[in-house]
Amino acid sequence: MGLRTLDDLGRVADRTVFVRADLNVPLESGRVADDARIRATLPTLGELLGRGARLVVASHLGRPKGAVRDDLRMAPVVVRLAELLGAPVRALGLPREPSTRAGVEGLASGEVAVLENLRFDPGEEANDPTFAGALAELADAYVDDAFGAAHRAHASVRALPELMLASGRSAVAGRLMQREVEVLSRLRRDPARPYVAVLGGAKVSDKLGVIRALAERVDALLVGGAMAFTLLAAEGARVGRSLVELDRLGDAREAVAAARARGVRVDLPVDVVAAPEVAADVPTAVVDARAIPEELMGLDIGPRTAEAFGRALAGARTVFWNGPMGVFELEPFAVGTRSIALAIAATDAFCVVGGGDSLLAVRQAGLEEAYDHLSTGGGASLEFLEGRELPGISILEEAS
Ligand code: 3PG
Repeated sequence: MGLRTLDDLGRVADRTVFVRADLNVPLESGRVADDARIRATLPTLGELLGRGARLVVASHLGRPKGAVRDDLRMAPVVVRLAELLGAPVRALGLPREPSTRAGVEGLASGEVAVLENLRFDPGEEANDPTFAGALAELADAYVDDAFGAAHRAHASVRALPELMLASGRSAVAGRLMQREVEVLSRLRRDPARPYVAVLGGAKVSDKLGVIRALAERVDALLVGGAMAFTLLAAEGARVGRSLVELDRLGDAREAVAAARARGVRVDLPVDVVAAPEVAADVPTAVVDARAIPEELMGLDIGPRTAEAFGRALAGARTVFWNGPMGVFELEPFAVGTRSIALAIAATDAFCVVGGGDSLLAVRQAGLEEAYDHLSTGGGASLEFLEGRELPGISILEEAS
């Protein structure tokens, strides 16, 4: 099914376009700490401005759960967006405030305004049609560039484009959304083989669905991060004090067995960097992943595992990576994640990475250029690869 894009939007000169972006960026001391998601949406904003539109940009920021929180206001995002655009950007209030409507009406062609955090209103997460109605009143057309939020059936992602379409207005994907869907669809439909997926991160419960779905497509699945300990424990390994989701042992065992039964190679760590606690200044030891001393927990993959994963990646023609191999924000446990970032970068494969932590690792290692696609969506990219219907994408597709 084809996605409607900016090419289908028609004339937008002197029209107001609502752009749902994912500007959910990390903040530090009231400033944007990582502007990658803001930069990723600039092509869409630039194209619309070039076509003479007035832009009302909106996003969620954090999880304020329907209440106004000063530490999650959009102000720092507005400042950074203005710097990146090289043009003034107006900060508007909450969508239902009368002053917001007046602010939008005062926009001139080629001007940009940003709404206050959408999740300050309980209607956003409730997918409330009344809230969506208030948003719909602000614009003549709708563009969704928020791939990172496409798996959320929230008002600005689902009810709003539904309303726009029902009232004969356009609802299309922006360039970022379009590229994400194109690249990830390629992994879903027609990946060049061998296709190797690397999964990490804390919880296996978040990844069981994607393990099952990837098992139908990949040739090898390399698993690191804390989630590997649930899989190891499910096979009877002694994992010391490592993080294990005891209630998921059965599911984990079944998912790995199903993958192996399909002929998929599933590699778990053979050694790990272990320590008595999660801290930067504790003594560490490299130990066998299946015989971790009782007082220690595994906090990174070990050197033999990194080497084995590197070898498995070397011949790959497609690679998908989501999730760090260890607690990479602490230097003693960052080596495994860095070595995977490097091993993937060194392949000739079509390389896609998704998820905030893995992306950060790629950027910290200065390897962005070596990757074919850095997905702005963590949860969204996983759900997409699982083959689920994402509410923020299906609404932008042509009815078949
Ligand atoms: C993300 O950061 O993954 C997206 O912005 C979605 O945020 P959420 O998980 O709070 O819905």
